[in-house]
Amino acid sequence: MSKLTTLHEFIMDRQSDFPFASGELSRLLSDIAIASKVVSKDVRRAGLMEDILGAHGSTNIQGEEQQNLDVIADKAFINIFKAGGEVCGIASEENDDFMPFTSEFSKKGKYVVLFDPLDGSSNIDVNVSIGTIFSIYRRKSEVGTEATMEDMLQAGDDQVAAGYVLYGSSTMLVYTTGKGVNGFTLDPSIGEFCLSHPDMKMPENGRIYAMNEGNINICESGIKEYIETYCQQTLPGASRPYSGRYIGSLVADFHRNLIKGGIYIYPDTTTDPEGKLRLLYECNPLAFIAEQAGGLATNGRERILSIKPERLHQRVSYFVGSKTMMEQAMSFMK
Ligand code: AHG
Ligand code: MN
Ligand code: MN
Repeated sequence: MSKLTTLHEFIMDRQSDFPFASGELSRLLSDIAIASKVVSKDVRRAGLMEDILGAHGSTNIQGEEQQNLDVIADKAFINIFKAGGEVCGIASEENDDFMPFTSEFSKKGKYVVLFDPLDGSSNIDVNVSIGTIFSIYRRKSEVGTEATMEDMLQAGDDQVAAGYVLYGSSTMLVYTTGKGVNGFTLDPSIGEFCLSHPDMKMPENGRIYAMNEGNINICESGIKEYIETYCQQTLPGASRPYSGRYIGSLVADFHRNLIKGGIYIYPDTTTDPEGKLRLLYECNPLAFIAEQAGGLATNGRERILSIKPERLHQRVSYFVGSKTMMEQAMSFMK
C-alpha cells in the first residue's frame, strides 16, 4: 500500500509554489484544518447534544435565525485565527460588521479571512450535508495596524486561497491556492485529512442541474427557457433528460457538481432582487475553485471573480458549474 499524504505534508510540500512565502499562508491553512476538525466533531454528534442542535435564539444581520452550530462554528474559526497570528481580521456571515483583531500579535498578521462558518444551516436538524466556506486575501492595509474595510472588500480575483469543508458522508476539505484544486478526506481513526482527490477537474459537461425550482416563475424568464430547452428534454444522443438535484446546502450541491459535472443556479428573484447567496464568503471562494477546476462562475452576465464588492454581506445572482453547461445557460441570459 502506498503511503498516504496528509494535508499537512501536502501544504508543506507546496510551500515552494510561493517563492517569497514565509510559511504564514501554510500555517493559516493548517489552522483552518484544525478548526474544521473541531466543528466536524460537533457535527458528528449533533443529534445527541441539546446544545449543538437547534436554534440559538438570535438572528444575524441578514435577519436569519442563527442555529447553535452557526455560532459554534463561527467561534471555533475566530478563536483559531486570533491565536494563530497570521490573520489581522475576519468577516463572517454571523457577524454584522467585519472584525479587526486588536492584539499587537494579530495586527502583524498579513491575511484576512472571509467565511461562512456553517453553510446549509436549514439542513443541520435533518442530518443532511453542511459545510464551511472560506476565502483568504492578503491585507491592503499596512502590517502592524488594524485591518480595514478595504482589506475585506477585494475582488475575488485577488484571493490568494479559498476552500471549503464538507461535513457529508465523510468530512472533506477542498482548497486552491491558484495552482489547481485538491481534496482531502478526514480519516477519523487518525484525525488527519489525507489527500483523496488530487488535482480535481470539473467535467467539461454534465447532466445534473441544481436550482430551487420553487423560484422558477419569480426569476428571469431566460432561466426557465434554459432549463426547459437543455435540462428537461431528451437531447440528441441521450436516453433521458438531465437529473435535477438540489440539496439546499450550496457547498454540497457545488461539491457534487465539481465531481460529477453539473450546473448550480441561484438567480435573483422578485423576492430577493439581488439574489440570495453572499458574494464574499459563498460565491467568490467557490468561483475560484470552479475556475481552477476548469468550470465557470458568473452572475448571469459577468465573471463573479471580476466583481468589485461594495458591501460585506452583498448578495449576488449565482451561476456556477461545468463549462459547456454554463455557456449554454449564459446564452439564455439577455
Ligand atoms: P446559510 O445556511 O449559510 O445561510 O446558506 C444557505 C444558502 C445555501 O447554502 C443554500 O444553497 C441556499 O441558501 C438555499 O436556499 P433556498 O432554501 O432558498 O433554496
Ligand atoms: Mn451559506
Ligand atoms: Mn452560513
